[in-house]
Amino acid sequence: MRKQVIAGNWKMNKNHREAEDFIQTAKNEVPSSDQVESVICAPFPFLQKLVEETKGTSLKIGAQNMHFEESGAFTGEVSPVMLKELGVEYVVLGHSERREIFKETDEEVNKKVHAAFKHGLTPIVCVGESLEQREANETMTVVENQVKKAFEGLTDEQSQQVIIAYEPIWAIGTGRTATAEQANEVCSHIRKAVADFVSAGVAEAVRIQYGGSVKPANVEEIVGQSDIDGALVGGASLEADSFLKLVEAGK
Ligand code: G3P
Repeated sequence: MRKQVIAGNWKMNKNHREAEDFIQTAKNEVPSSDQVESVICAPFPFLQKLVEETKGTSLKIGAQNMHFEESGAFTGEVSPVMLKELGVEYVVLGHSERREIFKETDEEVNKKVHAAFKHGLTPIVCVGESLEQREANETMTVVENQVKKAFEGLTDEQSQQVIIAYEPIWAIGTGRTATAEQANEVCSHIRKAVADFVSAGVAEAVRIQYGGSVKPANVEEIVGQSDIDGALVGGASLEADSFLKLVEAGK
């Protein structure tokens, strides 16, 4: 049985005060981590405080990006060593906004996945097609290639620990959700691909989230699908009440 992972991706939102208020409300309300993994991926300046405040609770903290190098002349970047030192446990990698706006490549995402494992961070690797690609019937090829490249060179044990987030770009922040069936179809395809290029055992164990306009009203149907093991949520993760409803659905 795969445990569901419900992760909030705050993106570049909130101030310190708002971040703290959220955590104060949510940290003792999330279900036990035996039932569901609850994660908040916050902007870098909030991480230290949020990690401190959630110590000993079932709410875990993640970053939204990092560099793959440990240190050096990379002005403006944050290294996996720094995140680990803070006590961060997860890191979102290859989000479509990073791929599109910051031109991150599959090769960089792969290097970041390796760096995450080297430093004991759990990577949440985002993949997903654009509207153009969906309309050209390229969805399966696009996501399969992204997953394959992200997993290159990993051991089976590492592959099994990656959390894959399938986020169709056309459904992000648009209010336009993929239907639960559409989302499950792609997640099933990803699982089959992992079975082919890693192993059946890893494919069975690896967790695949769906992301793209998930909200309390549609989360149950989405996470109830056979090949969907949670959600990566932007807008609807910004309010504690809403986030708590999402994690309830993951139990
Ligand atoms: O990473 C989460 C994301 O991109 C989806 O955003 O606002 O559509 O839930 P949203």
